[in-house]
Amino acid sequence: MTTRTGTLYGIGVGPGDPELITLKALKILKQVPRIFAAASSKNTYSIALNIVRCHLNGAGIENLPFPMTKDPEILAAAWEQNARRVLAALKEGQDAAFVTLGDPLTYSTFGYLLKTLKQLQPDLTVVTIPGVTSYSAAAALSQTPLSEGEESFYVVSGALGAARLKEALARTDTVVILKTYRHFPEIYQALAELDLLDCATFISRVGLEGETVVRDLRELKGAPLPYLSMIIVKKPRHR
Ligand SMILES: C[S@@+](CC[C@H](N)C(=O)[O-])C[C@H]1O[C@@H](n2cnc3c(N)ncnc32)[C@H](O)[C@@H]1O
Repeated sequence: MTTRTGTLYGIGVGPGDPELITLKALKILKQVPRIFAAASSKNTYSIALNIVRCHLNGAGIENLPFPMTKDPEILAAAWEQNARRVLAALKEGQDAAFVTLGDPLTYSTFGYLLKTLKQLQPDLTVVTIPGVTSYSAAAALSQTPLSEGEESFYVVSGALGAARLKEALARTDTVVILKTYRHFPEIYQALAELDLLDCATFISRVGLEGETVVRDLRELKGAPLPYLSMIIVKKPRHR
């Protein structure tokens, strides 16, 4: 008798508040016998796992080491190893979940895992459960409408550089800048040059201990910023 290959569920656990998990995600997390999470290879801490820990029913938990590097070869090798680990569990016939912060297909390690798994086994059954994104929660916390009427908004990475950030700011009504913490001085400078500092709101650790909203970015100059932080820029005519 051949063993059936299990299903992998890519689960978005929301940005921090354990009550911002969908009912569907919760149901699956209580059912699956195996749960994987990405963690830095330097330590085994996974924010996503921490968010759902209070909901788990004794599933086996495994951290997948994710090297903090931009080297594409090192990353590809790590993801192949991680994908093979997940595949081995599924081939034992067990269903498994991979938990991820916010939404699994928005700037998420799940994207790499999914791509690698599909290369290794194209017919694998993978079900993705969307999650509340960090920027939806940040917009809610700061009471900032992201778009109304015919407006549009961009979601960009803080690492894209000042020139492209300025381009994005020129093209749309609202810009959400994720991954700001290391790039704050450059982002601050670009906003100051465009006279948009007064249109920007800094939001960090939404739904987690230390949650903060700062409406004057000048207060943050020189301060150490948390990894989980973003800036929402809403241009003047839309304020
Ligand atoms: C790798 S991305 C993960 C995005 C996530 N998948 C989502 O759907 O929002 C990490 C970035 O998301 C943002 N982020 C995630 N959770 C957050 C939170 N609770 N508070 C503020 N920013 C958060 C920060 O900008 C952080 O640098």
